[in-house]
This record gives sequence, C-alpha cells and structure tokens, in this order.
Amino acid sequence: MLRKQSIPLVVGQILCCVFLWSASFAFGQPSGEGATEEATGGAGGGASGLSTDAAVIAKGQEIFTANCQACHAVHEQVVGPKLAKVYERRDVAWLKEFIRYSQKTIESGDEYAVALYEKFNKTPMPNHDFLTDDDIIAILSYIQDETKKGPPAPAAPETEETTADASGATATPVQEGNSTILKIIIIGMAFLLFLVMGVLMLLASTLVKVINKNAKSEDDILENKFTLDSILRSPAFGGMVTFVFLGIIAKFVIEGIITIGVQQGYAPEQPIPFSHKLHAGKYEIECKYCHTGVEKSKNANIPSLNICMNCHNTIRTTSPNIQKIYAHLENDEPIQWVRVHNLPDLAYFNHAQHVKVGGLDCENCHGPIQEMEIVRQSSLLTMGWCIDCHRETNVNAKGNEYYDNLLEMHDAYNREPLKVENIGGLECSKCHY
Ligand code: HEC
Ligand code: HEC
Ligand code: HEC
Ligand code: HEC
Ligand code: HEC
Ligand code: HEC
Repeated sequence: MLRKQSIPLVVGQILCCVFLWSASFAFGQPSGEGATEEATGGAGGGASGLSTDAAVIAKGQEIFTANCQACHAVHEQVVGPKLAKVYERRDVAWLKEFIRYSQKTIESGDEYAVALYEKFNKTPMPNHDFLTDDDIIAILSYIQDETKKGPPAPAAPETEETTADASGATATPVQEGNSTILKIIIIGMAFLLFLVMGVLMLLASTLVKVINKNAKSEDDILENKFTLDSILRSPAFGGMVTFVFLGIIAKFVIEGIITIGVQQGYAPEQPIPFSHKLHAGKYEIECKYCHTGVEKSKNANIPSLNICMNCHNTIRTTSPNIQKIYAHLENDEPIQWVRVHNLPDLAYFNHAQHVKVGGLDCENCHGPIQEMEIVRQSSLLTMGWCIDCHRETNVNAKGNEYYDNLLEMHDAYNREPLKVENIGGLECSKCHY
C-alpha cells in the first residue's frame, strides 16, 4: 500500500543503492587490476625461461654476490644500472651474450647496448665467459625474485626504469586512491543515512495511515509528525540548510583570499619529502650551504641536486626518496620543487640586501625553518609587513663606512636611531620596479 507521492522516493532510493553499489565496485577494481597485472607479470617472467625454484634462486644469489655485487644492485644504481626487471627490458638470449661479452655486443652496434654504455660514461663491464647458461639463468631468476619482492624500504611504488630503453612498461602506481576512497566512503555513509531516514519516514507514515484507517473515533486519529512536508518546514531543517550554505560560502571566501595573495601558513607538499628539521636542525647544515645566493644575490636559490649528491652519493642510498634524486639526475631533469614564498612580479625583494647588508637572520622572515618538516610560509609577505619592519628596524651600520657617515649626520640632528625608513625604505620605487 504505497502512496502515490512516495513512489518517487522509493525510486530514488533504489537509484541510490545502484549508485553506491556501482561506486564500491568501481573503487574495488584498481586493486583487483593490480593483482592480475602482477600475476601476468609473473607468468611472463616464467615464460621467458626463468625459474622460481628456491634452489636455483639461491645459486643465482651466490653467483651474483661473488661476481656482480661490486657494481650492481637490484633496486639501486651503483656502478652499473639497477637490474630490477632487466629480464623484461631484454630477452634472455641477449642477456646471456651481454653478460658474457658486453664489449662484443656494444661493438656489434646494438643500439640499446651502445646507449647504455654511453650513459654509464663508457664504464666497461668485465667479461664473464666462465658463466654457463644455467648460471646466467640462475642469476636472472634471482633478480626476478628480488624484483618481485620489491625494494627493502617500505612503500616504494615508484621504481623508475633506469635505462634509456623505453620498452619496459612501467605500471602506473595506484596511489592517490586512498583519500578518494575515504571521501567516497563518507559520501556513501551520508547517502546511507538519508536512505535509512527515508525508509523510516515511509514506515512511520504507512503505520500512521493504517492506524488512522482503523480508528474508531476522532480522538484516535494520529498526526504524522514525520512527513517530508513537516520536516522541510521545521526550523531545525531550515537551520541546517543555512548552516551548510554559509559554510560553503565561507570556504569560497577563504579560498578567494588565499588566491589574492595572503598565503601565510602555506606549506605545500614537495615531490621529495625534504626535511629542514633533519638537515638544518638535527645535522646543522648551514642554510647557505644549500641556499647559495642569500649573501650575494637577489635570490636565495633552491639547491641543485648536485648539492644533495655531495652527501647522498653515500648516505641512505637505498631509500626510495634518495633513489628519486638519482633518477632525476640520470634523466637530467631537475626536481620541480613547489614554490612556497612568492611575491608578485611588481615587488622587488633582495636577499643579499637584507642578509648580508642588513644583517638579518633568516628566522626574522621565515620563522624557525630548522624545526620544520615541511617548509611553511610563516610571515604575511604583504606590503604592510615589509613597511612595518622598515619602520621599526635600525639600520645595521656596523663596519660600513658609508653608513658611518650617514649615521653621524643622522645622530647630529636626531635622537631616534637610524631606521630603514630613514634611508629610503618606504620609497615606492625601492620596492616597485
Ligand atoms: C665492474 C663493474 C661491473 C660488474 C662486476 C658487472 N657489471 Fe653489469 N654492468 C656494468 C656497467 C657499467 C653496465 C652498463 C653498461 C656498460 O657500461 O657496459 C652494466 C650493465 C649490465 C646489464 C645491462 C643492464 C640493463 O639495464 O640493461 C646487465 C644485465 C648486467 N650488467 C649484468 C651483470 C651481471 C649478471 C654481472 C655479474 C655476473 C655483472 N653485470 C657484473 C658494470 C658491471
Ligand atoms: C641540505 C640543503 C638545505 C639546507 C641546509 C637548507 N635548505 Fe632550505 N630548502 C632546501 C630545498 C631542497 C628546498 C625546496 C624544497 C622545500 O621547500 O622543502 C628548500 C626550501 C626552503 C625555503 C622555501 C623556499 C620557497 O619555495 O619559498 C626556505 C624559506 C628555506 N628553504 C629556508 C632555509 C633556511 C632558513 C635554512 C637554514 C636554517 C635552510 N633553508 C637550509 C634545501 C636546504
Ligand atoms: C651535508 C650532507 C647532506 C646534504 C647536502 C643533503 N643531505 Fe639529505 N640527508 C643527510 C643526512 C645525514 C640524512 C639522514 C640520514 C639518516 O637519518 O640515516 C639525510 C636524509 C635525507 C632524506 C631522508 C631519507 C629517507 O630516509 O628517506 C631525504 C629525503 C633527503 N636527505 C633529501 C635530501 C635532498 C633532496 C638534498 C638536496 C637538496 C639533501 N638531502 C642534501 C645529509 C645530507
Ligand atoms: C627580510 C626578510 C627575509 C630574510 C631575512 C630572508 N628571507 Fe628568504 N625570502 C623572503 C621573501 C620576501 C621571499 C620571497 C621572494 C620572492 O618571491 O621574490 C623569500 C624567498 C626565499 C626563498 C625562495 C627562493 C628565492 O630565492 O626566492 C628561499 C630559499 C629563502 N628565501 C631562503 C632564505 C634564507 C636561507 C635566508 C637566511 C640566510 C633568508 N631567506 C632570509 C624574505 C626574507
Ligand atoms: C625583518 C625586517 C624586514 C622585513 C620584513 C623587510 N625588510 Fe627590507 N630592509 C630591512 C633592513 C634592515 C634593511 C636595510 C638594509 C641596509 O642596511 O641597507 C632593508 C632594506 C630594504 C631595501 C633597500 C632600501 C634602501 O633604501 O636601500 C629594500 C628595497 C627592501 N628592504 C625591500 C623589502 C621588501 C620588498 C620587503 C617585503 C617583501 C622587505 N624589505 C621586508 C628589513 C626588513
Ligand atoms: C618595503 C617595500 C615596499 C614599499 C616601500 C612599497 N611597496 Fe607596494 N608592495 C610591496 C609588496 C611586497 C607588495 C605585494 C604585496 C602582496 O602581494 O600582498 C606591494 C603591493 C603594492 C600594491 C598592490 C598591488 C596589488 O596587486 O595588490 C600597490 C598598489 C603598491 N604596492 C603601491 C605602492 C606605493 C604607491 C608605494 C609608495 C607609497 C609602495 N607600494 C611602497 C612592497 C612595497
């Protein structure tokens, strides 16, 4: 006994169910896909004549340790390329030939081998003519086994290809799924709650109707408080809608302000989780060791990867984050650090002027960077912020002849100490081109 009006409601509920079900299905899919991919990868490896037998793998490991480990690792580039998935990049026949007589392959003009040789600065790999076919199969089986186990450090979906060869298909990691799934779950739950509410309302109204139908006198007639109508009209519902509405508006206004330029607190994630707390804090590496420009130029500079390599060619070489540095260097592409501090083009700011001449600490403007895991913009960076400081800060005139004279002249006429504003720190043209 469905009322006419409730039919759309029921249809809606069924649609919701279908939506939720298909959504959960769609989001369940990637992991399933990943699993099948891995499975086919395994089958592919097996088909190319490699073994998954523990004894063969152990033998391979032994030969690898004795002959190859000095120059190779599976998940890491050492003297030679990392060998993960090498059995996918090249076929076994090619590998046998190359491992035994790499120079022969290179001299034969094999494009891949020549490119690799060039890439490794023509470091020759020694001949291994003493290895039998079985030995090489064992080594490759060991490499396959290690490749599947993945790098030792946790969570490293990104094992980029190290060679010039593009044939090795890189699986796109299913990474950003997590937060999306969470969102879907939350939205799904909200839907579910609405659904339950709808069903209960329907139930209530049906029950009330049944009771009213059987009512013997006027007094027994029940009033249904939980119809859609009464809820829509209730003050509580009105309040809720207003609240959500205002919330959405507030969100847009705040985002608007941020894009206008006030970005205090902005702390974007970086492509490599570089920690100032660790480097500048714990290990006390000086800021200017990396930010080489602070004392001599307008820009402080973000360090090039070569500076990282001064240490990381030996420190934490197996960490996936450090591996990223190697990969970028190898491909000769700089890391795209996300810029944190950003003045508009119309303003001119010079680090050397403030750090070297003005004698200011980084901390005055950037806050306690050496305590930050992720760099955060701690000052406003507005015009008012610059000007306030210029009004309050005394000119650092120590050991500067030009300032000595200026200071003398200033002090003769003025009891107040010489401020930045007195040397032109408030002139528009000093900060604006
Ligand atoms: C003295 C260092 C050295 C030793 C020892 C060495 N290799 Fe290499 N290997 C290299 C270098 C360098 C390359 C890059 C190509 C080149 O420069 O010839 C390379 C390339 C390779 C490649 C091709 C990798 C690719 O990405 O396609 C394979 C496979 C390989 N080596 C396997 C082995 C095996 C197996 C052993 C041990 C039996 C071994 N290597 C021992 C230095 C070495
Ligand atoms: C080992 C090298 C290294 C040292 C030492 C170092 N930094 Fe950095 N710094 C970086 C790198 C890399 C970035 C870019 C990635 C990031 O923002 O985290 C950066 C970013 C920054 C930024 C943000 C730049 C932007 O995008 O606006 C500031 C500010 C900064 N560093 C200040 C400091 C200060 C102050 C110190 C000393 C207390 C310091 N750094 C020491 C490497 C270093
Ligand atoms: C002066 C030496 C030095 C320089 C230069 C340096 N680091 Fe480090 N880095 C270290 C040390 C020491 C550690 C800590 C190692 C540990 O805890 O075992 C470290 C750790 C790291 C880690 C954490 C590794 C992990 O466990 O995942 C990352 C990421 C990192 N550095 C990135 C960089 C980047 C990017 C640069 C260049 C902008 C850089 N480092 C420059 C010395 C340095
Ligand atoms: C008087 C304030 C002030 C001081 C002191 C200061 N900075 Fe900055 N810094 C800024 C401003 C403002 C920007 C943004 C510049 C821009 O966007 O053009 C900035 C940007 C940076 C950047 C981003 C890259 C660049 O070159 O623009 C780095 C890195 C940086 N500062 C590091 C440092 C370090 C290290 C010190 C200390 C040696 C320091 N700063 C001292 C105000 C300051
Ligand atoms: C923490 C204080 C402080 C902040 C914040 C600051 N400044 Fe300065 N500024 C100084 C000092 C101190 C000097 C004087 C340096 C000297 O002795 O020449 C100076 C000098 C200057 C000068 C040179 C003035 C002249 O007459 O030679 C310019 C231009 C300038 N600042 C621009 C800026 C801009 C743009 C900002 C904001 C993005 C800014 N400053 C923020 C302290 C500050
Ligand atoms: C100490 C440095 C400094 C001085 C002096 C200074 N400005 Fe600015 N001004 C800035 C900075 C930095 C910004 C950018 C602030 C931001 O992005 O919020 C700015 C922004 C502005 C803007 C806003 C542009 C926009 O997009 O919102 C105007 C207009 C402006 N300045 C005009 C002036 C005039 C006129 C004077 C002289 C009376 C002057 N400024 C003096 C540093 C300065």
